[in-house]
Amino acid sequence: MPENPPEETLLLVDPDLDFLDWATKHLAADGLRILRCDNADNALKVITKMPVNLVVAAFDLQPFDGMELLARIRLQSPQTMVILTAGFPSTGQIIEATQRGAHDVLRKESLPFELRHIVESSLQIQENRRSADSPDATVPSPEGRVKIIGVSRALQDVFKLVGRVARTDAPVLITGESGTGKELIAKAIHEYSPRRKREMITLNCGAIPENLLESELFGHEKGSFTGALARRAGRFEQADGGTLFLDEIGDMPISIQVKLLRVLQDGSFSRVGANETLTADVRIIAATHKNLSAEVASGRFREDLYYRLNVVELRIPALRERPEDIPLLAEYFLQRITRKNGMALIRISAEAIATLQTHHWPGNVRELENTIARACALASSTILLPADIPLAFAPGRSQLGLPEVLDRLINSAPIGVDVIDWLSSEIAGRAIERADGDLKTAAIALGIPPASLKNRLSRHA
Ligand SMILES: Nc1ncnc2c1ncn2[C@@H]1O[C@H](COP(=O)(O)OP(=O)(O)OP(=O)(O)O)[C@@H](O)[C@H]1O
Ligand SMILES: [Mg+2]
Repeated sequence: MPENPPEETLLLVDPDLDFLDWATKHLAADGLRILRCDNADNALKVITKMPVNLVVAAFDLQPFDGMELLARIRLQSPQTMVILTAGFPSTGQIIEATQRGAHDVLRKESLPFELRHIVESSLQIQENRRSADSPDATVPSPEGRVKIIGVSRALQDVFKLVGRVARTDAPVLITGESGTGKELIAKAIHEYSPRRKREMITLNCGAIPENLLESELFGHEKGSFTGALARRAGRFEQADGGTLFLDEIGDMPISIQVKLLRVLQDGSFSRVGANETLTADVRIIAATHKNLSAEVASGRFREDLYYRLNVVELRIPALRERPEDIPLLAEYFLQRITRKNGMALIRISAEAIATLQTHHWPGNVRELENTIARACALASSTILLPADIPLAFAPGRSQLGLPEVLDRLINSAPIGVDVIDWLSSEIAGRAIERADGDLKTAAIALGIPPASLKNRLSRHA
């Protein structure tokens, strides 16, 4: 007679008895014993009494919540896998739960499609997991977290990865088109990591001339080059114990890449003009909008550095790949912009949302934010209609892409002027015209403070 397969135990914890019935019915399978609890206390008692392989628990529980239950299970029974569920888990819940060691975070709505598969795969993973696995240190929840909006599957997967990598010191490479939120994700990784007590230092590698970049990164001694009037610590020293965010890493010159590789290999570096070797305990997060493997293939980026930085790659999808994020993002920006400027709350119509969802968004979330700001500045009523949404380069309205428009603008500049200064004053002037002379509204539309708008105008005069 064949032997019965060993029994696995799944514990469902949810205050909603209908949900428990429904889930039990959907999950019943040979070799799977399903237990149920309607509160967190009883769930812990069950886990103390018998081995449980997998817990599927709601965030919202009594007398303590699912996050706390997760933490206690991790301590009491580190082998038990935990999946947390909610109607709509928030970004913070997803990041924090995965950071604290949850196997997954799921929307209740998607459970019928996913739970069965997840139960099977997590039981399998657990079988394969080494018994020496130790519980991860739990990190108390951080204050003042970054606000990231995203309900799309693609972005929620990014949040889960943020939660997982936040616990480690592994270098992370964040890729994605311009304006997709790479810097925001870097901040989230830092804020949810044990390093958040120290700073995240940012360096934009594309914005600093090659001859100054080395000193920015590693510091310099007094007199080591013209202009080095005093000894200065570089970003590596400043980030000691914290995180160094190297933005636009794809623009880093090869000569500096060699030096960065050295720090990544053995943690040591020297200030420009110094013999002394220093070390710093720094976690590196790098970001680029370029395709770094193509840069490697063309010889502009060192392959060995690429592999050092790319231990974990986090690809942020373009906004057009996740139109389901657009309604919430639009609402969020509307509230933020109107509150910041002391304006009455403006609502957005369903038709206007539909218009936003069909746009191509080459500038991604930043472009959406600017579009909403412009729409607020120009709005003639408290509800935005499709006609109020200024989609400058919407397909169909204009055959020209941004590069063509820029070419035309550059060609139309008067001879002998500083074209960039001229363009910015033209843009400033046009924004004021569109805002009927209202400086504040024009500044909002351009996303700059009124003082800098004045400054741009006066440069033109
Ligand atoms: N998911 C999101 N939720 C809320 N705000 C977002 C989100 N993604 C991006 N933003 C906002 O959009 C703007 C652009 O984001 P960010 O600077 O992080 O993008 P980026 O990928 O670093 O862009 P670039 O490549 O141009 O440097 C910021 O104002 C940021 O706050
Ligand atoms: Mg950026």
